[in-house]
Amino acid sequence: MCGYANEIKKRRTFAIISHPDAGKTTLTEKFLLYGGAINLAGSVKGKATARHAVSDWMEIEKERGISVTSSVLQFNYDGYCINILDTPGHQDFSEDTYRTLMAADSAVMVIDASKGVEAQTRKLFKVCVMRKIPIFTFINKMDREANDTFELLDEIEKELGIATCPVNWPIGCGKNFKGVYDRKSQSVVTWSDTQKGTKEGETSVIPLSDEAALVGHIGEANREHLMEEIELLDGASAEFDLELVQKGELTPVFFGSALTNFGVEIFLKHFLEMTTTPLARMSDQGLIDPVEEEFSAFVFKIQANMNKAHRDRIAFMRICSGKFEANMEVKHVQGGKLMRLSQPQQIMASERKILEEAYAGDIIGVFDPGIFSIGDTINMPKAGFRYEGIPTFAPEHFARVRQMDTMKRKQFVKGITQIAQEGAIQIFQEFNTGLEEIIVGVVGVLQFDVLKYRLENEYNVEIRLERLPYEHIRWIENVHEVDVDRLTGTSDMKKVKDMKGNPLLLFVNSWSVGMTLDRNEGLVLAEFGRNQ
Ligand code: G4P
Repeated sequence: MCGYANEIKKRRTFAIISHPDAGKTTLTEKFLLYGGAINLAGSVKGKATARHAVSDWMEIEKERGISVTSSVLQFNYDGYCINILDTPGHQDFSEDTYRTLMAADSAVMVIDASKGVEAQTRKLFKVCVMRKIPIFTFINKMDREANDTFELLDEIEKELGIATCPVNWPIGCGKNFKGVYDRKSQSVVTWSDTQKGTKEGETSVIPLSDEAALVGHIGEANREHLMEEIELLDGASAEFDLELVQKGELTPVFFGSALTNFGVEIFLKHFLEMTTTPLARMSDQGLIDPVEEEFSAFVFKIQANMNKAHRDRIAFMRICSGKFEANMEVKHVQGGKLMRLSQPQQIMASERKILEEAYAGDIIGVFDPGIFSIGDTINMPKAGFRYEGIPTFAPEHFARVRQMDTMKRKQFVKGITQIAQEGAIQIFQEFNTGLEEIIVGVVGVLQFDVLKYRLENEYNVEIRLERLPYEHIRWIENVHEVDVDRLTGTSDMKKVKDMKGNPLLLFVNSWSVGMTLDRNEGLVLAEFGRNQ
């Protein structure tokens, strides 16, 4: 173990996932408020400020008024050093949103109590499951009319396929939201009305056994209802098992209202106790322990042109072991070169801060002169390992792309290839023809606009995009056992190859995927691509 193990063990690095509008931003603000990082919720990450501050780097974001970038927030609370990885909240999210989860050790899933599990949560959840990282559920907006609590839990179990274990239980909802029952201590926590945006407010803790006091706080009807629900709950729900939580098979569930602060700090405290310290990460030489002396990191995101004047690229890396010090000599494994990481920064919602040191669990952004790719390993000069690659996530929108001016073929190919290398888009070709036709696949449709904008502005190439009807892409897992030319699919199926020549199949609907599997015995398809 290294001399700075304590620094590393203090760290908790997690992502917050939710469908837009479930309350992710509001909850993050409240976390910052408890951590003392801001004085009044809204002053750092309030939508207006965050959107302007974070997204200045790209005109298109301003035009559309949304944030394409994800940012990292670091703050201290109760002896912990917390890194929150924010995932863009708009529907038009990109592959970056998925990749951010590759850098997190756990995820907080925010669900709107009146809506239940929604589309985007479902997608992000799949990635968490693939990584087997712990998932904590915060059911938000209990100050509004909410769905039945048992039904909400049932929906999570059925829709997402994860067992739930309520850590606390709501008492009423809407105007009648009185507080939560804490199952472990068998006591009820109630709040007096808190002012919107502040953390002050009176909390009372009443043992369940103190009937008189309880009736005084929540009323007889609520007490009776609670007693009935507790009985049902104790008979029906999964037992709390930290090991299952850490394997991502059981999600602890909390209830509250981010807007009024009800239940936020209780959630934060429990969550920090239950979630993991920085996790070991798999390399080609086995697991690398975060408390190893030697620094190592991997690149999970590349952000181009954050500063238009400088045309710079920032590579975001997750530190996986040891300590990073500004100006130390490190090795970029894939490039086979020794280097000093220049301008190491922490990118906060509203500012960039130059870093002197950082530890395993932290995220840093470094200036990238165009040498890094997603998934690259950075470690000490004598280290000989490389981290497992980051999977390629399935695009859901496809378009055929052509340059308007055929004379600019070279710039076009260069631009589109570079943008694909950064991981903003994926490019494919027709399976049996040459380079002429390029098909672009993106996770969120906004990336089409980003591509068009960037090719025009950075490479001086105008393009035309013709949308294609495909929505599903599958990688062929057992490519050496399959003769792709002879695969028989449905009439809507299209065979393409990626830039490395790997064959892929595109489908208009999920039914066709099933049909194609039925028609081709032995064919194994995957939803995520393994990155070589
Ligand atoms: P997101 O990041 O997940 O997209 O959601 P965000 O926090 O921006 O919240 C979406 C809307 O829901 C906001 O209202 C926010 O105030 C509201 N909200 C968040 N948490 C709660 C809650 O616990 N209870 C209630 N009642 N509302 C909540 P808005 O009107 O869209 O924006 P704003 O004008 O309030 O900023």
